[in-house]
Amino acid sequence: MADRPSLPKTLRTERLLLRPFQFGDVDDVYAYAKDPEWSRFLRVLPRPYDRIHAEQFIARQTLLDWIEHVAWAAVLKDRVVGGIGLRFNFENRHAELGYSIARSEWGNGYCTEAARAVIDAAFRTHEDLIRVHARADENNTSSQRVMQKTGMTKEGVLRKFRVERGEAFDEAWHSILREEWKQ
Ligand SMILES: CC(C)(COP(=O)(O)OP(=O)(O)OC[C@H]1O[C@@H](n2cnc3c(N)ncnc32)[C@H](O)[C@@H]1OP(=O)(O)O)[C@@H](O)C(=O)NCCC(=O)NCCS
Repeated sequence: MADRPSLPKTLRTERLLLRPFQFGDVDDVYAYAKDPEWSRFLRVLPRPYDRIHAEQFIARQTLLDWIEHVAWAAVLKDRVVGGIGLRFNFENRHAELGYSIARSEWGNGYCTEAARAVIDAAFRTHEDLIRVHARADENNTSSQRVMQKTGMTKEGVLRKFRVERGEAFDEAWHSILREEWKQ
């Protein structure tokens, strides 16, 4: 893996700075992550979400290898308003995109803006990357809307594919291929 290039540590979009999470981000992350509506579809997160969970999250982010797994904090006017990341599977030459934005900022196009920049960086950095995909609860309409706005195509829905907190839910998959990204 050592010969693999790594993605840029910082990316600038029209309105956001994407940079690695830092220990000073705990308060910002806690402020949005404790909101149960924000985590409605993020069932793996603890409930209630306490400050310690934000601290643990930040600690994990600082340990990422930045080759196989990268994650940026989305900073808007000096405040962290979300996160976006990629997990690479180099053997199969694809990557999975994940993201979140604080509820106070929903619907302003921030996630789409960040996702476009990250997908761009992924295809540019790894010239052999074939596809970037993302998946969401089939009921998570806004997340799927982001996928569509970044040029992804819906591949299908895996019925009752994932069980979290004892509940089985349908998972929708979207992807963008290198040739589609080039256009
Ligand atoms: C999904 C999420 C990241 C989107 O962030 P965002 O910054 O609001 O996204 P954008 O503003 O770029 O785009 C959201 C789109 O969804 C649409 N949308 C929002 N709520 C919607 C709803 N209930 N039904 C249909 N569309 C909806 C918005 O109108 C917008 O589309 P438009 O530009 O065509 O109007 C954000 O809602 C979030 O963090 N949710 C909680 C965490 C999460 O679910 N993460 C994804 C896990 S797969």
